[in-house]
Amino acid sequence: MDSNNNTINSKPARYLITAALPYANGLKHIGHLAGAYLPADIYVRYLKAQKRDVAFVCGSDEHGTAIPIQAMKEGTTAQAIIDKYHPIIEQNFKDLGIAFDIYHRTSSPLHHETAQEFFTVLNNNGDLEVKESEQYYDEATATFLADRYIKGTCPVCANPNAYGDQCEKCGSSLSPEMLINPVSTLSGNAPIKKSTKHWYLPLNRHEDFLRQWILEDHKNDWRTSVVGQCKSWIDGGLQPRAVTRDLDWGIHLPLTDSTKSVDRQQLAVSQTDAAGKVLYVWFDAPIGYISATKQWAINNEKDWMPYWYAPDTKLVHFIGKDNIVFHCIIFPVMLKLHGNILPTNVPANEFMNLEGDKMSTSRGWSIEIEDYINGWIKKDNGGDSMADVLRYYLTQIAPESKDSEFTWKGFQDASNNELSNIFGNFVNRTFVMMHKHCSGKVPPFHNDIIDDADKQLIADIKEAAIKVESLLEAYKFRDALFEVIDLARKGNKYMQDKEPWIVAKKETIDGQLSEAGKKRIDNCMHLCLQLTANLAILIHPFLPFTAAKLCKIMKVVDKILEWENAGRLDLLKVGYSLREPQLLFRKIENEEIEAQLAKLKASTEKKVEEAKTTIEQPVVANEPAPIAAEIVFDDFAKIDLRVGTIVAAEKVPKADKLLKLSVDLGFETRTIVSGIALHFTPEEIVGKQVTIVANLAPRKMRGIDSNGMILMAEDSTGKLHFINPETAITNGAGVK
Ligand code: 2FM
Ligand code: ZN
Repeated sequence: MDSNNNTINSKPARYLITAALPYANGLKHIGHLAGAYLPADIYVRYLKAQKRDVAFVCGSDEHGTAIPIQAMKEGTTAQAIIDKYHPIIEQNFKDLGIAFDIYHRTSSPLHHETAQEFFTVLNNNGDLEVKESEQYYDEATATFLADRYIKGTCPVCANPNAYGDQCEKCGSSLSPEMLINPVSTLSGNAPIKKSTKHWYLPLNRHEDFLRQWILEDHKNDWRTSVVGQCKSWIDGGLQPRAVTRDLDWGIHLPLTDSTKSVDRQQLAVSQTDAAGKVLYVWFDAPIGYISATKQWAINNEKDWMPYWYAPDTKLVHFIGKDNIVFHCIIFPVMLKLHGNILPTNVPANEFMNLEGDKMSTSRGWSIEIEDYINGWIKKDNGGDSMADVLRYYLTQIAPESKDSEFTWKGFQDASNNELSNIFGNFVNRTFVMMHKHCSGKVPPFHNDIIDDADKQLIADIKEAAIKVESLLEAYKFRDALFEVIDLARKGNKYMQDKEPWIVAKKETIDGQLSEAGKKRIDNCMHLCLQLTANLAILIHPFLPFTAAKLCKIMKVVDKILEWENAGRLDLLKVGYSLREPQLLFRKIENEEIEAQLAKLKASTEKKVEEAKTTIEQPVVANEPAPIAAEIVFDDFAKIDLRVGTIVAAEKVPKADKLLKLSVDLGFETRTIVSGIALHFTPEEIVGKQVTIVANLAPRKMRGIDSNGMILMAEDSTGKLHFINPETAITNGAGVK
C-alpha cells in the first residue's frame, strides 16, 4: 500500500520536489526545460507563495557511460567533463529563474556514501539477486560493453544507431542483447561474449505491489499517459534489472564486511566480486535526490529525514516521459525496500518537438538553453523579460498530455500578441492613466457608484485566484497560465468599456473635472490597480522576473506575492504613490525570427558534416538496416510506381525540411511535399526525373495536399539520392 495514503486527503506537512538530474555531459536544450525543470519551478514557486515547507532538489547526474563517451569526444577525462558542464548547466538554470534549493552533484562523497548505503541495505536484506551471465565484451579495449558502449540496429524501428540501453529514435528501452549487429562504440569491433557476475533488482517480485499502487491507487490522480506507460511495462512482464556494471567510472560497489552480522553471508560483496564494478547509473542517480536533500539540510541546518521517511511528506518527481519507468517502477521499488516514502505523483511531460521534427542535440535540431540565454537574455536590454517570454511560451505549449511543438513563429506570436498586447498593455495603460488622471497615487473606491462592470471584475479576480490555484494543484500548468492571461484580457475589456480617458474629456468643464467624473475615473483606476497587484501574484510562479518588475513599479516588497493575497482588493493602499510604468515586454521583430530559423538550419547541417568524421559514426552507419518482414507478390503489386519529372520546386514556408514539388507524370502534374529541403535546393532538382509512389493516399502537410511520395536512397553518410532511370524516359512510365 501507499505509505503516503494519508497525504491524499490531508494537507501535507512538507514537500520534497525533484526535477530529473541532467547528465553533466553537454548543454541542455529547451525541450529539457519544458519537460521537467520549468513545471517543477512553477509548482515550487506556487507552494512557496503558499508558505508551505518545500525542498526543491536537483543536480548533475555525473555517472554512466554517457560521461566517458563525451570525454573521448572532447579528448579529455570524465572528471574534466563533469567539472566543465556542472557549473554551466547550474548557471543556465539560474538565468532562466529556475530556483532550486540545491543543485547537487552525484560525484560528491556524500552521494557516493548514500548510494552505497542504499545498495548495502537492499543487498543485506536479500532484496537483490546475484547472477553470473555471458555479456558483450570488447577485446581490443578490455571492456564489458554496457549501455552506451555498445551500438547496433534497433529491433523496434531499425535505427542503425541505437544504444545498448535505449534507442533515441523510437524511445524503446533496450538491452545490449536486443541489438542487431552490435558493435563496440569504443573500438568499432564486433564484441565477443564473456562471463561476469552482477547484482539484479528482481522487479518481478514486486508486480502485485506495483499493480495495486499505480494501476489502482493512482489510476485517477496520475496523468493517463504515465499510468498507461506503467501498465504496459507491468503487463509486458517485469524482469530482474541489473543494478551493477563492469566499468571504472561510477560509484564502486560497497564491500560487505563478512565478519559482521549479515544474516545471509552468501550475499556479502567480496573484494574479488566488487573489483572493477560500479553501481548502474540509474541505480545511483535517483538516490541523488536523497543525497541532495541531505546536503540541502546540512546547508540550512535542517533535518533531512522527514523529507524521505515521514508519511505526511508529499514527494513529487518532475520528469520527461523517457524517465517514467525509472521513477514510477524501479525507484519506487527501491524506496519501498529501503523503507522510504513513495512519490505522491510523477507528472511526466511528453516531448516537445521543434519546427516539425523531434528535438535532438546530436542532430543539431534543438535550441540550447545556453544559446537562448546568450542570444536573447544577455544581449538584450532588460533581457530578463526574455527569460520570462521563454517561460511563457514553453508553458503555453507545455506537452502535458501529448507531444507539442515549438515554432519560432509561435514564440513570436505568444510574446507579441499575448504577453505584450494583453498583459503588458493592461499594466502599461493602467499606470499611464493613473499617473495622468490620479496624480500617480492609488485613488479611492467610491462604493456609492459601484456598477455591474465593477462587480463583474471583482468577481473575475476572485474566481481567477481560485481557478489558478486548483489547476496548479492538479499540475495543469498551461490551463493555469491561460486563466492568468484571461484575467488580464478581462482587465483590458473593463478599461475599454469604462473609457476613463473619454470620461476625463467629457466631464471636464473650464479645465475642471466634475465630481461625478472624478469618482468614475477613481473607481476604474482603483480596480485596475488592484487587478495589477493580483496579476503580479498569479503570474509570479510562471514569470518571476515580470512579477518582480511589477512589485518595483507598485513600490511594494515581494511579500505581496504571497498566495493568501490572491483575490484581495485592498492590496494597494489608497493614497499610496506608485512609480512610472516600465515596459514589461518588447516587440519581437520578424527578422529576429528569420535569423533563428536560419541558425537552426545551419546548426543541423553542421552536425551532419561533423557526424561524418566522428569515430562512432562510420562503424555503425555502414551496417545496412535489417530486411523488413516478408511480403507476397500481391502486396508489392499493389504499389503503383511511376517515373515523373520535377517541373517546379519551392520551399514550404516555415518548414525547414520540406519542399513543395510539381511532378509531371505525362498524363497529369502532381503536387508532392517531400522532406528533402536540407539535402537539395529547389533550383538543383527542377528537371530531374524521379520515381514516385503514385497511388499513395493523399496527405496534408503544412496545409498542402501531398499526392504521392518520391523514392530516395540514403547512403551510409545520410546523404539522399534520387532513384531514377539511367537515361530519360517518357513520364508516367511504370516501374516494375
Ligand atoms: O535522462 C536523464 O537525463 C537522466 N540523467 C535523468 C536522471 S533523473 C534521476 F533519477 F536522477
Ligand atoms: Zn528504435
